[in-house]
Amino acid sequence: MDRWHGKVAIVTGASSGIGAAAVKALANAGMTVIGLARRAERVQELKRTVSTEAANRIHALHCDVTSERSIVDAFASVDRQFGGVDVLINNAGVSKLTCTLLTPGNGDDLRTVMDTNVMGLVLCSREAFRSMKRRQFAGHIVNINSILGHKYIAFPNLNIYGASKYAVTAITETLRNDLRNEGTRVKVTSISPGIVRTEMIPEGDQFKDTPMLEAEDVVGAILYALGTPSHVQVHEVIVKPVGEMA
Ligand SMILES: NC(=O)c1ccc[n+]([C@@H]2O[C@H](COP(=O)([O-])OP(=O)(O)OC[C@H]3O[C@@H](n4cnc5c(N)ncnc54)[C@H](OP(=O)(O)O)[C@@H]3O)[C@@H](O)[C@H]2O)c1
Repeated sequence: MDRWHGKVAIVTGASSGIGAAAVKALANAGMTVIGLARRAERVQELKRTVSTEAANRIHALHCDVTSERSIVDAFASVDRQFGGVDVLINNAGVSKLTCTLLTPGNGDDLRTVMDTNVMGLVLCSREAFRSMKRRQFAGHIVNINSILGHKYIAFPNLNIYGASKYAVTAITETLRNDLRNEGTRVKVTSISPGIVRTEMIPEGDQFKDTPMLEAEDVVGAILYALGTPSHVQVHEVIVKPVGEMA
């Protein structure tokens, strides 16, 4: 991670789970980290869980990734305050386990999942690239995907979530092609975890005996991809807990 020391990372969905763990790890590795979330106060609270030195490198910024205006404003603010973004961790994501694809009145929930998991990721990538291109910087975009982006698994009420992650798989490769056609050496990596113990997983008996990754395990994969030499690009990492059935 030495080459990222002093560089700037944006982590979306930084207020809990994988995003919060990524903020801490990148700040501990010497990066200036801007954590985006609607609950920005929770990103601010992360500072109390790291050394003073690392805490000084963590900055919280309100952003709702379902709003293009909010994304454009957040990235412009990072450009103004920190000079630009070198690494983007596209992590913000939601599932709405309240309905099936056939449930009457499900439109708002389904649109929220697609707007967050797909359009949010695309628009954040566009804004990060704009910043990298302006400075001719060969940065890195990391998309937090899912095993559900590679394989249909019949969990109840996952409705459009799997489709949103299949979209992330396709978008990662489209981005890779677009970045190459732009003549840049910006990298893009998809990280596809199995089940991870975060607030996204409903509490209760349903997952009592299910093996799970911890958020830090996924962050380990992020650090691996970021840590490769400039000529090496990790395309896809699938990481699952030992014993996972699917
Ligand atoms: N947990 C799993 O089993 C699992 C498995 C595979 C992949 N993933 C993926 O991992 C990523 C992180 O999820 P997690 O498990 O860490 O879940 P989590 O603990 O629920 O965190 C989700 C994060 O996304 C943010 N977010 C949601 N909607 C947003 C919006 N409109 N604008 C900005 N931020 C928004 C939330 O922040 P605010 O609510 O504060 O805005 C929160 O910080 C997601 O992309 C998820 O699909 C999770």
